[in-house]
Amino acid sequence: MVRQFMCATPLAAVNFKVKDITKEVDFILMILSHTILQKYPLKTQYITRFLKAIISQMENNGNELCDELYLKYVELIQNESNKGPFYKHYILGNNISNELTESVITIQESTSIVSQGTTGLCTWQAGIALSCWCLKNQDILKNKFIIELGCGTGLSGISTCLNCSPSEYWFTDCHSAVLNTLKHNIQINETYHKFNCKYDIVQFSWSDIEDLKMFENKKPDLVLAADVIFDDTMFEPLCSSLKYFTINKTTEIILFCTLRNSETYTKFLATLKKYDLLFTQSVLPDSYSIVLQQDCPIHIINIKQNAVMSK
Ligand SMILES: C[S@@+](CC[C@H](N)C(=O)[O-])C[C@H]1O[C@@H](n2cnc3c(N)ncnc32)[C@H](O)[C@@H]1O
Repeated sequence: MVRQFMCATPLAAVNFKVKDITKEVDFILMILSHTILQKYPLKTQYITRFLKAIISQMENNGNELCDELYLKYVELIQNESNKGPFYKHYILGNNISNELTESVITIQESTSIVSQGTTGLCTWQAGIALSCWCLKNQDILKNKFIIELGCGTGLSGISTCLNCSPSEYWFTDCHSAVLNTLKHNIQINETYHKFNCKYDIVQFSWSDIEDLKMFENKKPDLVLAADVIFDDTMFEPLCSSLKYFTINKTTEIILFCTLRNSETYTKFLATLKKYDLLFTQSVLPDSYSIVLQQDCPIHIINIKQNAVMSK
């Protein structure tokens, strides 16, 4: 529940029926007065709704309610402000350290899924899944030159730079507002954590063939992307860029896709085939479900020159 609260998981996806709710409430009250949340606040409306849901749950359970919880709730509804910026705090590892800042990655996010004409100002479900996958597969990422396409707010890349020791990491996206937010997110996390690799922030659009020239002398070992398969007008430019990366036979590409619409997904697979990109597919195992916010499976597409083609 604490993890879900910190990254403002939609209330419908939060499990309020936990074993020891009083203990979790104490922890959440402690977090609310922690400097990291004072400096980088969650949206107040989210906090009040969350506290209200906890209060209802405790009343239904017959739990004794602590005054501090009510007081905090009242204080927040009296000062509810919609003025951002707002942040989310992701706890991706298994443990929550006593020094909270060690455990969290803080990300400034827009509260709507499209803002300033881009989808890249909030972190998407597949982006969270990719971040967790990278943590569990550090051996695959170690010492690799990694390029992330459509990196958005930067959660996956920041976590990878902090935890997975790549040789170099390029955060790429086409949108200037996205890249500015990303810079800010990197700065925030650099104050609390040590980045263990070189990194760069690069404006790169799949639709601009000229942009590909910057990779002529810089061949990635690994290309990562999450939630970039939703706009079918982008499939051709995206696959064309992916094809370019596979000229280097050892480059591997891993795409994380939330399966919201199977027709769109099938169309993307057909475009991969059209570009002769060999791939395998798998579904993110259930063990990752702790971070998922929607009931849509995450598919992992692995593109490699020597892949045995998926049907
Ligand atoms: C749905 S968001 C996903 C962001 C991030 N990967 C995540 O999972 O949270 C899609 C991202 O792709 C970027 N994007 C869309 N079209 C692009 C293009 N033609 N070239 C490069 N990036 C693009 C958007 O700016 C946005 O950041």
